Amino acid sequence: MRVPFVDLKAQYDAIKTEIDAAVASVIRESAFIGGPYLKAFEKDFAAYCGSKHALGVSNGTDALRLALLACGVGPGDDVITVPNTFIATAEAVSMTGASVRFVDVEEGSLNMDPGRLAAAITSRTRCIIPVHLYGRPADMDPVLDIARKAGLKVVADAAQAHGARYKGRGIARLGDAVCFSFYPGKNLGAYGDAGAVATDDPAIAEKVALLRDHGRLEKYEHRIEGFNCRMDGLQAAVLSVKLRSLEAWTEARRRIAGLYGSLLEGAPGLTLPPAEDRDSRSVYHLYVVRTDAREELRGHLAEAGVATGIHYPIPLHRQPAYARLGLPEGSFPAAEASARRILSLPMFPELTEEQTLHVCSEVRRCLERSRARSSVAVP
Ligand SMILES: Cc1ncc(COP(=O)(O)O)c(C=O)c1O
Repeated sequence: MRVPFVDLKAQYDAIKTEIDAAVASVIRESAFIGGPYLKAFEKDFAAYCGSKHALGVSNGTDALRLALLACGVGPGDDVITVPNTFIATAEAVSMTGASVRFVDVEEGSLNMDPGRLAAAITSRTRCIIPVHLYGRPADMDPVLDIARKAGLKVVADAAQAHGARYKGRGIARLGDAVCFSFYPGKNLGAYGDAGAVATDDPAIAEKVALLRDHGRLEKYEHRIEGFNCRMDGLQAAVLSVKLRSLEAWTEARRRIAGLYGSLLEGAPGLTLPPAEDRDSRSVYHLYVVRTDAREELRGHLAEAGVATGIHYPIPLHRQPAYARLGLPEGSFPAAEASARRILSLPMFPELTEEQTLHVCSEVRRCLERSRARSSVAVP
């Protein structure tokens, strides 16, 4: 049996009629940049987030960059984030002229460790970027508390966490600005690149609106120099259609995660994603297990037709791109240890029960064989 890592075609097949009609309308009306489809999506997405403003932009990386700039981040500043994220989180910091400063993660959740945050703050620190990795909310109360006491802004990276909740509150309102990616494989994915900034702060909303479109709100009146970071009408129209299914897709992801959890519980040497805190809701962008036998398991699953991923194999401080920071192995032990052991199993709303059972039985088969071999080897 073949089990892909994600299956965007299966999703399209389920909503084809509405998507095709929406795309045809945008083309018929030549509403390619900004315009009514963008406005409609922004209104719907802000309502979904429960935030006062949602601004559509070109991608999740630009959402972070513009949100940081709108928070006043620039040259001479430090911005704190985690090393076990997609490089875009750190790139966005560098693009503002600020410097990235890493803080380690909690061993269980793999999200920012608030216990280490205060010690990482310097006189140059201006902002903190917690990342809701894999769709699991970071521990935001202490992060927000530390930020408030130190007078710092919080720009959350929610690229993987549309619809996640933390202690009963939607994560889209936890922070001065919350940034989303609509990269096609994300929980809410466009048919190309797109992103959004959600915020309750009118000044941040206005600044992002200016920055994304050459510093203007009127056609040829440019209040500041900005960029071209606009979301196009086709993406907005597609996203409006897909947003209507997002909750159902999230519930499907959560059901699959539950099934994985019950079928994989007790598999030898396997660490499952941690249980959710009460009132919190992970949206399982990824289902990530951990094992010392990662390479063997990955190879075995590939042979059994199961595609897997590693998110992310090299922590950012060990990437050549950040060699300038001079951070040796051992700088962030929890992030480094997880990078050696993590494996992302297939996770998408259309994954069938039969496929999930196949993945789990192959995971167990491999790990049980591996355990039997090692118990023979040890006298
Ligand atoms: C955690 C994280 N941050 C930022 C991004 C950047 O988003 P985009 O690819 O839309 O620029 C992504 C997605 O790729 C991501 O997973």
